[in-house]
Amino acid sequence: MLFEQVTVGGCQSYLVGCADTRAAVLIDPEISQRDRYLAIVSQAGLRIHYVIDTHTHADHFSAAKQIGEALSVPVVMHHESVAPFVGLRLDDGELLIAGRLRIQAIHTPGHTRDSMSLVVEDRVFTGDTLLIGATGRTDLPTGDPEQLYDSLFGKLLNLDPSLKVYPAHDYKGRSHTTIGEEIANNPRLQKRGRAEFTDLMRHLNLNAPDHLTEALRTNMSGGKTVTQLISEASAVIPFMSLNELRTRLAARPNDFVVLDVREKNAFDAGHIPGARHVPRGQLELRVNEELSDPTLRILVYCELGKISTLAAATLRQLGFTRAAALDGGFKTWREGGLPVEKAAEPA
Ligand SMILES: [Fe+2]
Repeated sequence: MLFEQVTVGGCQSYLVGCADTRAAVLIDPEISQRDRYLAIVSQAGLRIHYVIDTHTHADHFSAAKQIGEALSVPVVMHHESVAPFVGLRLDDGELLIAGRLRIQAIHTPGHTRDSMSLVVEDRVFTGDTLLIGATGRTDLPTGDPEQLYDSLFGKLLNLDPSLKVYPAHDYKGRSHTTIGEEIANNPRLQKRGRAEFTDLMRHLNLNAPDHLTEALRTNMSGGKTVTQLISEASAVIPFMSLNELRTRLAARPNDFVVLDVREKNAFDAGHIPGARHVPRGQLELRVNEELSDPTLRILVYCELGKISTLAAATLRQLGFTRAAALDGGFKTWREGGLPVEKAAEPA
């Protein structure tokens, strides 16, 4: 078996491959590492057959849909998953076959209703059902302490104690443990009675994870994160540095339109000298009157450099084929002591 563990922050994802056939599966990919998984696969001479999410993640952004689409392979989740982009739904006890690998799904609800663990040869990928020295929380949507109790004490802890445990998260830099070690040392598993365990889980009082609503929205629907939208826009436009713009403005006359897409009060309070103003929210509807020449060179800026990226991509879609965005925003320009022009006072 070929095996690679990719750690980012506390997220753990796994590439498991068959050494004979080079078939592989990818488990719990995280969106920022998308290029890395594909690079590992190509370097190792593997082909991914399935992209598997052990459950609907609430605390990070899954790359399953994007990688599934990029490679034309199915996204696999448990039958209970509501995500519309899932191509293959597994029930308890079913196997996936990739080359000589046998990947067995065990339905282990509790952290979420759609949680499953995956047994592959000498190891089990436990998602967030069983963590190293802890368990997944049960207080997020579809979580249930009673189900988690059954999944742990009725299923996972009955597996071979020597099985290696690879969870979906670990925040202390540990790579894995074993079922036997968890039975012996995991503090939460020492509460062996149902009432004792569920009472413990109900009173953990954990903080909500960062990006909870955005993670659930995108992971459950296949929709895009805000970062993805900006990143896709930035991939189809060129940028100009603050220094380059400063130099060009100093060597007037310049040959391009500097376009401020912030709100009116921000523009009036101070803007790049000579800039024209169309707020982002009105861009599409005012573009015909404000920018009549599609061959114009246009440099868009905003306060932080994000909205301007989206606006420049929109302008390109509209046919302004020389639209670019400032690398950085007016905040950096202003704080760098560069020249600022204010709106003329009304007469
Ligand atoms: Fe989770």
